Amino acid sequence: MVTTEIPMDTRSKSSVTSTPKSAQISGSKAVGAVGKTLIDIDHVDFFYGENQALFDINMKIEEKKVTALIGPSGCGKSTLLRCLNRMNDLIDGTQIKQGTITVRGVDINSPEVDPIELRKRVGMVFQKSNPFPKSIYENITYGLRLQGENNKSKLDEVVEKSLRGAALWDEVKDRLDASGLGLSGGQQQRLCIARAIAVEPEVILMDEPCSALDPVSTSKVEELIHDLKAQFTIIIVTHNMQQAARVSDRTAFFYMGKLIEYDDTQIIFMKPNHDQTEAYVSGRFG
Ligand SMILES: Nc1ncnc2c1ncn2[C@@H]1O[C@H](COP(=O)(O)OP(=O)(O)OP(=O)(O)O)[C@@H](O)[C@H]1O
Ligand SMILES: [Mg+2]
Repeated sequence: MVTTEIPMDTRSKSSVTSTPKSAQISGSKAVGAVGKTLIDIDHVDFFYGENQALFDINMKIEEKKVTALIGPSGCGKSTLLRCLNRMNDLIDGTQIKQGTITVRGVDINSPEVDPIELRKRVGMVFQKSNPFPKSIYENITYGLRLQGENNKSKLDEVVEKSLRGAALWDEVKDRLDASGLGLSGGQQQRLCIARAIAVEPEVILMDEPCSALDPVSTSKVEELIHDLKAQFTIIIVTHNMQQAARVSDRTAFFYMGKLIEYDDTQIIFMKPNHDQTEAYVSGRFG
């Protein structure tokens, strides 16, 4: 099978023959973005069997920014997030009936794109931390080992770099062989972030990553998100309005499967254009 590689960020050392400057489509009706577009969601209708969960979603996701997805329960935030790395493929009967999603100009649903390769580039951190029942060290190296990397010094290097990147190194450096399950909830979530960044994705999807954490762990993860955007493009789902306002550059408000408003976070929270957005961010409904 011929697989189409999604052109990678220039920081990547992999063989990239041509890297499109950007996936910006001029003249598109998609809700505008001012920075460089990394992901372009264009007129997407998504179905679970007969039930439509997303309606004509248009969004350009900017590179190396934090984009927050907000909206009441059941409005389709997780569904959209899972469309971005084809995690919905794992659910029977799901289908994008209309529209396209491109990453650096490549249609991620085209038959040539291998979903496993895509998920290496578009990693995910879940609501409930889910370390493997393995050591801290093996949690981090799991993905690389799957890719065939067995060089001990290389793996050691990635473990340290990823744990430092996830602001966890100092807390665990003396017990890398201990089980990941023995860490606190907040540490487990940072371990999962370290595991996600170990394979050097371009995008990290986070679905309510702090909902099970105490305020101290939450603020550590928020600081981490702020630091990570120097290197990664982050899309975060959150029910916490203060969190969305603190960590994100752009915010998208969804209601019943529709994108109601998408703009700079300051505008969404201070001066939204739609009454529904205003009502939601001010806590009057939802
Ligand atoms: N696996 C599934 N099978 C069928 N329908 C689903 C599935 N997952 C979600 N849905 C439906 O799709 C719609 C959107 O759900 P989704 O989980 O994306 O919402 P959400 O915004 O993430 O909500 P929450 O804030 O509660 O996590 C809902 O109507 C939901 O019932
Ligand atoms: Mg959800």
